[in-house]
Amino acid sequence: MSDELIQKWNARYQDADPTATRPCEVLNAFAHLLPRAGRALDLACGLGGNARLLAARGLETSAWDLSPVAIDRLRDHASAEDLPIQARVRDVQAEPPEADTFDVIVVAYFLERDLAPALERALRPGGLLFYQTWTREAVDDRGPGNPLFRLAPNELLQLFPGLRVIAYREEGLFGDSAQGLRNEAWLVAAQP
Ligand SMILES: C[S@@+](CC[C@H](N)C(=O)[O-])C[C@H]1O[C@@H](n2cnc3c(N)ncnc32)[C@H](O)[C@@H]1O
Repeated sequence: MSDELIQKWNARYQDADPTATRPCEVLNAFAHLLPRAGRALDLACGLGGNARLLAARGLETSAWDLSPVAIDRLRDHASAEDLPIQARVRDVQAEPPEADTFDVIVVAYFLERDLAPALERALRPGGLLFYQTWTREAVDDRGPGNPLFRLAPNELLQLFPGLRVIAYREEGLFGDSAQGLRNEAWLVAAQP
């Protein structure tokens, strides 16, 4: 992992307000599907908005990111809120999650296509993947400019062929673009 990338994300998180960090919408919208117990992972967690929701729901929660600043700030914030989150600096490309280790994995605004098979393997039977990120079809210029970091139409639906799709949302440019889910796709999928 390049130092430049780490520095870029460190700088982004240095002055960010961790209390303003929220869980992603797909996790909020489908939180009723979460198990009552088990191990959960917020992958490429940033300040850990998803990890905080998962830990507050009683899941044994890990949060991994390559930015030491993000992880330090998440640890401080989680301990102030008395949330037991195991936050670690971890380059998930070099060190993806091990097979059969998590009951829930959440990925928000991070797209590393080569990681998809490892994420699938990391889910235990019945385990759930919540994924939300940018699409190439967009109604404005929010999100990354590099199309590599954005999903092609239906791509998120196809990235995890071994999982059972529970919910999928991608509205592209159809209809009234002032309404609905724009610029992003959502997936909830389960390990059979
Ligand atoms: C757009 S942010 C999203 C953060 C968080 N998921 C959220 O929704 O607030 C992308 C995150 O991916 C992390 N990241 C990028 N490459 C990574 C890698 N190889 N391993 C771990 N984290 C990585 C960055 O440090 C950054 O925190």
